[in-house]
Amino acid sequence: MAIVNFKLQDGSIKAIDAPNGISLLEVAHKNDIDLEGACEGSLACSTCHIIIDEEFFDKLPEASEDEEDMLDLAFGLSPTSRLGCQIIVTDEIDGITVSLPNATRNMMVDKK
Ligand code: FES
Repeated sequence: MAIVNFKLQDGSIKAIDAPNGISLLEVAHKNDIDLEGACEGSLACSTCHIIIDEEFFDKLPEASEDEEDMLDLAFGLSPTSRLGCQIIVTDEIDGITVSLPNATRNMMVDKK
């Protein structure tokens, strides 16, 4: 269980009690946070791009090569960018803050 603080595009913070074992993308979806996740976690898009606060970035398991490849395509990439669908909630990330990059909001992705 972890508290995940989502920093929304308008700058406000939404703190969510997230159960272990689900991805940050799922946390966002369950809580009406506007994170797209067009491929639903199959590493075929970059619309679940989030920016992790520095303090926690190093605590996360490293990104796989596939994740890195998709991240390269994300808008507004930052040194602490990750894909939300690849980050699984654990006790270790309690108190993490993740920001939604502004650019993804304007990106239209065809959902079949
Ligand atoms: S939802 Fe597509 S890569 Fe995360």
